[in-house]
Amino acid sequence: MITNLDDKTEPAANRLSSPRAAVRGRKPARELFYRARDPKWVADTLLRVLAQGWDAISPSEFSRLYRQVRRHTMCSNARLRGLYRAARYVVQHRIPGDFVECGCALGGSAALIKLTLRQLGESRALWLFDTFEGLPAPTAQDSDFEFANLYTGSCVGTVDEVRHLFEELRIEDGVHFVKGLFQEELPKTQVSEIALLHIDGDWYESVKTCLENLYDRVVPGGFIQFDDYGYWKGARRAIDEFLGSRKIQTALVRLDYSGRQLVKRVSPGK
Ligand SMILES: C[S@@+](CC[C@H](N)C(=O)[O-])C[C@H]1O[C@@H](n2cnc3c(N)ncnc32)[C@H](O)[C@@H]1O
Repeated sequence: MITNLDDKTEPAANRLSSPRAAVRGRKPARELFYRARDPKWVADTLLRVLAQGWDAISPSEFSRLYRQVRRHTMCSNARLRGLYRAARYVVQHRIPGDFVECGCALGGSAALIKLTLRQLGESRALWLFDTFEGLPAPTAQDSDFEFANLYTGSCVGTVDEVRHLFEELRIEDGVHFVKGLFQEELPKTQVSEIALLHIDGDWYESVKTCLENLYDRVVPGGFIQFDDYGYWKGARRAIDEFLGSRKIQTALVRLDYSGRQLVKRVSPGK
């Protein structure tokens, strides 16, 4: 049963023996052949390997945080760096609001955000929305349904697993878990002002619901980061449709093959 677990009452769940195995699940061969026909995806994959190698040894502040979360995330270094920079910008420019992630799986990208906040001595709330039971099924709006559907039920991270990671890293304060479908939980959320919104829900309906319910709560100057714009067709369609319907012309900043960032304009209504 899907319930809201903000009261931290979930019984202890089995922990995964290897988070890396859980988040770096092999791509189905059929999908791999399909992706490999896109030279941009191939180039991005090579760059990603190089970036991972660099961040594994670099003494930079970002790389040190990255090494603490890499086994718990599917997000690329470039997209994690996007979150790191956005979080720093928001704090340094005193942009008000909470931090929100829709789609956290094992919690790696969310932990990176919270580690960044801790590094800056900032104690803002971080809201994590997820089924915590894995991906729901895509729909006919996801035109690459054939491949998307192979992932139904995957990317599972339980509330206990994510909470355990946050406790290990000592960043559990101010973290709110909201368990359930975005479609059911977001319309009733109490979050009123958002400084950074990370949307990583893969499918058309998931991304659309996030935008419809949360876009207007992102404050002027706040950030929205999309994980799946380049990778999943339904996600891109949901974003393009939403921005088009609102006549929002703000450019999406490219982070890598898939990730995009949008800074909400200061003028009202945009
Ligand atoms: C790719 S994973 C997120 C990866 C994560 N950000 C990381 O650092 O690895 C996508 C997550 O979105 C969640 N999700 C997708 N659609 C959802 C929906 N409609 N309602 C709730 N959760 C959803 C899935 O359960 C899954 O955990």
